[in-house]
Amino acid sequence: MTYAITLIPGDGIGPEITDATVRALEATGLSFAWDRQLGGMAAVDAHGDPLPDATIDSIRRTGVALKGPLTTPVGGGYRSVNVALRREFQLFANVRPARTIVPGGRYEDIDIVLVRENLEGLYVGVEHFVPVGDDPRAVAESLAIVTRVGSERIIRYAFEYALKHGRKKVTTVHKANILKMVSGLFLEVHRQVAAEYAGRIEANDLIIDNCAMQLVLRPEQFDVIVTTNMFGDILSDEISGLVGGLGLAPGANIGSKAAIFEAVHGSAPDIAGKGVANPSALMLAAAVMLDHLGEQDHGIRLRSAVEQAIVADKVRTRDLGGSASTREFGDAVVARLR
Ligand code: NAI
Ligand code: MG
Repeated sequence: MTYAITLIPGDGIGPEITDATVRALEATGLSFAWDRQLGGMAAVDAHGDPLPDATIDSIRRTGVALKGPLTTPVGGGYRSVNVALRREFQLFANVRPARTIVPGGRYEDIDIVLVRENLEGLYVGVEHFVPVGDDPRAVAESLAIVTRVGSERIIRYAFEYALKHGRKKVTTVHKANILKMVSGLFLEVHRQVAAEYAGRIEANDLIIDNCAMQLVLRPEQFDVIVTTNMFGDILSDEISGLVGGLGLAPGANIGSKAAIFEAVHGSAPDIAGKGVANPSALMLAAAVMLDHLGEQDHGIRLRSAVEQAIVADKVRTRDLGGSASTREFGDAVVARLR
């Protein structure tokens, strides 16, 4: 069977790491029909639109996209294409698995999957200023939207993920002591869903600030973590830090009709076009994509090929203290897959 995948190389280092990742995917022996589409700056340059209809139509058709990083201009310019894609396809779950790859870091054997609600919470961006006297911006107000349906969808997803991947425990993270409704509803739904999985998946809950500390003190207590949008944004970067930073952090945006797989890092304009970027994070995202496609064995093979290239073969790009080029690292991964 041939898998039809929308391929969005993206901006900056995107095309370089996407090339390396496509080579690795093809070395697994699986067959892919790549539908190359534009997004971000590359799409603005070609069509004057950061998210062309052709790109949206392609994802609607294939249901699966592998995406390089897209540049979002700071201040002015166009709105984030990443956020637009999440909304367009209702990609409600942001899944970020983090595992220790390079030994000798501050922590050994980290293996945590963070499941972040991707569409609700404070990040819905409903905010405004309230004028007082002659100050038009005297007060800023923001609305956090948390729905029972959205909470149940993401928490259930986390428990199902745990079952499917042979994991033991789900920790729900919240701030229900202070945010009695917005976070309280999330915790209430957690308790209902957790009860359904009793005896199969262990469940507990933690307040966000305590969780942030526990991650640093005793990360081994965590398995799958599920939380609301902003807490998830912050915790997922903290967890990437536990395993050595962004160069090795993959991410998946999952909805019921489409899924988009990408690296957590951005377009790295400082090293773009030099052929030195580390393609590992996108390759690990591609491994998560294979898992999503039902090709679990190939997903595991791709992930171990990346790990072996880094750890056993010691082929490392500059960000990991080595001198390998993107191409050389790609060759090492392909060699491991043959
Ligand atoms: P960045 O992640 O692009 O870069 C941060 C630092 O990490 C830089 O020094 C960069 O050289 C390094 N780095 C990142 N990925 C690397 C890799 N694969 N190999 C080696 N070094 C790597 O973050 P920054 O500079 O804040 O953002 C640049 C652009 O990317 C912005 O326009 C931002 O909006 C966009 N961005 C896009 C994302 C996406 O499409 N999912 C996610 C994050 C940022
Ligand atoms: Mg973030």
